[in-house]
Order: sequence, then structure tokens, then C-alpha cells
Amino acid sequence: MKLPNGPKTPGFVQRMQWVLNPLKFMETTAAVYGDCFTARPTGKPSVVFSNPQAIQDIFTARPDQFYVGRANGIFRALLGDYSMMLLDDAPHQRQRKLLAPPLHGDHLRSYGQLIWNITEQVISTWEIGKPFPVRLSMTEISLRVILQTVFGLQEGQRYEKLKLLIQSVLKLSSSPLKALPLFFPLLQQDLGPWSPWGQFKLLKKKVDDLIYAEIQELRDTPDPSRSDILSLMMSAQDNDGKPMTDQEIRDELITLLMAGHEASTSAMTWALYWIHLLPEVHKKLLQELDSIEGNASIDILMKLPYLDAVCCETLRLYPIIMLPSTRMTKTPIRVMDYEFPAGTLLVPSIYLTHHRPDLYPQPKQFRPERFLERKYSQYEFLPFGGGSRRCIGMAFAMFEMKVVLARVLLHLDLAIVGNRRVKPIRRGVTLAPSDGEWLVATSLHEKEVSIPISV
Ligand code: HEM
Repeated sequence: MKLPNGPKTPGFVQRMQWVLNPLKFMETTAAVYGDCFTARPTGKPSVVFSNPQAIQDIFTARPDQFYVGRANGIFRALLGDYSMMLLDDAPHQRQRKLLAPPLHGDHLRSYGQLIWNITEQVISTWEIGKPFPVRLSMTEISLRVILQTVFGLQEGQRYEKLKLLIQSVLKLSSSPLKALPLFFPLLQQDLGPWSPWGQFKLLKKKVDDLIYAEIQELRDTPDPSRSDILSLMMSAQDNDGKPMTDQEIRDELITLLMAGHEASTSAMTWALYWIHLLPEVHKKLLQELDSIEGNASIDILMKLPYLDAVCCETLRLYPIIMLPSTRMTKTPIRVMDYEFPAGTLLVPSIYLTHHRPDLYPQPKQFRPERFLERKYSQYEFLPFGGGSRRCIGMAFAMFEMKVVLARVLLHLDLAIVGNRRVKPIRRGVTLAPSDGEWLVATSLHEKEVSIPISV
């Protein structure tokens, strides 16, 4: 079957456009070809959808109709062959089943106090009247959170080393130009420690050494009182009673670490930006937070409608992951009126769907109220992707975002420095707010509002 129309420019040019200015590339292409087009941003023809019906068809298809892990090869160098993101079928389901419980329910609620305390420690370093690097502060929070909840690492030498190394790995793709090797395998050449790929390999080796050392230590001296995700993986067994190998554990750990903190960092940074750019939003949010004083609990915090709407609108306007994992069809599949043969790459565009004016009038405006006025289906609002590959950390990410925002807003007043504006830029495979010291603490709240956050 003939694939839907799309730009005729060479694949190489499209890939450059996609890497250097992804939003413009998507928007200009959709303006010409509509909500279903074929593009070649990854080299191969990919059919990109922003029609909720098409997205529903894809997300509700049987998981065994697609290869997803196989199409995620871009992450292999860092995450490894056994990362959940690179697996399909039974091995993928097995890993999800194993890792889902600690990222949901009571486990999640039990992290409330930890996240609250970590936020408190980080914001106590912000000096009144002195602008601070917002993204860096949010990275500090989300990295500490993930290292303590997933790795069970307490502050100390290994914890500090791992934190610094991960930040260095992320710096290697912190701008569109630096991200080029991710998208052009030819640039993945180790030309010594000064070449970008050489640096990456060196850093990765150091990270791996630390992770393997942690695994070994836990094997040598098991601690049954630990409830972090690493300990859980170490005691897990498959149906035949086989435990996970060290490499499987390492690949899954690094997956949760990378997937679990970079996106959360960007989401919390954007939220702080919008809340302080728009005084009306700030006022409403504070009123809502203040209203729960005296009657507060983690469950009430999670259910606050305006806080929820602010988080959703943040993830709608600039979805951190612009495209979910590509789905490669294994068998012919029908999506809307199209019948695609096996081997077709299908990509729901989160960004384009979130910017459809028929779903989100005035889509470029930050307006949390839209989430209070109507309910969006999971095919219209999809910051965490969907179907059998939907982000396994979705509940964790929303939980963390709400606790951190509540802690910051209840503790002090912040203001945007001058007329500073934050722009979306590519960082690796994500869409992130630009860096900079654009926020300043203006005063501490006179009375400290406290929320009994533990369960
Ligand atoms: C605001 C924060 C986050 C956003 C916007 C986000 C978004 C996404 C998206 C769009 C996907 C692809 C889903 C698909 O292909 O349908 C994904 C997958 C994934 N995310 Fe997240 N994520 C966030 C936070 C987290 C956290 C906190 C964790 C872990 C602690 C996490 C772990 C993962 C993993 C392991 C996958 C792969 C799932 C699979 O292939 O089965 N993410 N995420």
C-alpha cells in the first residue's frame, strides 16, 4: 500500500530539521499534510499521526502486533540489550510486571516524605534575592529522588559519584548539536577521550562500574529490610525460579534512572515557569494549597483539581517526550482507513495531538482550566504515551511533580527575573526548557504550612 503523503526532502535533511528544530519540523509538516503523514526523521519512512482515532487504533492493538523494543535501537548504547525499552513480547511483559508495583500504590505513597524532605533540602540553598539555575535545582531533586527510591542509595561517596557521572552523561546531549550522534550512527565513533562518543563510552564505563559494585555489595550482604527497586530485582525470580542476571539488573536500573529523572526535571521546571509567569495561575494554586491546611494529607494533595490541571497543562503544552516509542508493525494492521503492511513504522505525535485547536482551543496558551472544563481521553492527552508501552513511571512522575510543587509554593515566593523567557529546546530525545537563572526567591512564607505527608 502507498504510504500517506509527506515531505519530499531527502531523509538526511529531514533528520537534521528534526534534530535541530523538532517543533518547527512537525508543525510545518502537519500544516501541509494534515494529521497523518509520512516523514523520514529517523532515516526510514515513519507514518506520523496526530488524529485521536488513529492513536486509539494503535494503542488498543494487541501488543504482539508490533515490535517496539527493536525500533528503540537508538537507546541501546546507553541502556543495554535487556532494558525494558528494548524488549518485546514476553520478556517485556515480565519486566513490566516486576517493576510496576514499586512505582504505584502504597509504595509510591511511602516515598512522599522522602520527596518532601529532598525538596526542602534543595530549596533551602536558594538565597533570597539571588537568581538560581532552575533546571539544575530540579535535576538535583529528581536525581536524589530516583537514586534513593530506585537504587536505595543513601548519601555517601557512591551516591555522589553516580550523581555527578549521570549529570555528565546528560550534558553530552544537552543541546541539539550535541545530540547529533544519537541520531547519526556514523558519528558514534570512539576517536579517543576527547571525541563525544569516546567521552560517552568512558562515562558509561564509570557508571557501570559503580552500579555493578552496588549490585555485588548487595549480593554479598543482603539486607532484607530494604524496599527499594534494586533490592526487589535482586530477589525476583522468573517462572522457572531463575533470578535476574547482573546485566539484566544493570540495564533496568539505568533505564529507570535515565527515563525517571530527566523527564521529571523538565516537567517540574516548566511548571515553575508557567506558574510564575502567570499571576492568576499562581494565585489560584496558592489558594487551593492554602485551603487544605489543617486537613491535609498526601491523598488530599494528590486529588487537588487545580494542581492536577496545572501539571496536565504543563505536560500538554510542551510534552517532554515529543514522540513515544515507534511501533513497527509485525503483521498488517488497519489504522483509520489505512491498511499498513508488516514492517511499517507508526508514530503517534504527542506534540501535534496536544496542539490540535479542535481539542485545545488556543493551543499555545497555558490554560489549566481546560482540564477542569472537559475530560480528555487517553488518545487526546498522551504525555506518557499509551497502550502496553505506556510510561511505567507515570504515577510516580505525577506524584513527584505534585509533592515538589506543593513544597516549593508553600515555602516561599518566587518571581521571574526581569522579562526572562524560557524556550523549548532539544536535550537528547527530550524537549526541555532552556537553561538559565531566570527565577529568584523573593520572600519566605511567614507561617510554614505543613502537610502530614507520610502514610
Ligand atoms: C514527566 C515525566 C515523564 C514523562 C513525560 C514520561 C514519558 C514517557 C513516554 C512518552 C514514554 C513512551 C511511552 C510509549 O511508547 O507509549 C515513556 C516510557 C517509559 N518511561 Fe516515562 N515519563 C516520565 C517519567 C518517568 C519516570 C519517573 C520513570 C521511572 C521511574 C519512567 C520510566 C519509563 C520507562 C521504563 C519507559 C519504557 C516503558 C516500556 O517500554 O514499556 N518515566 N515515558
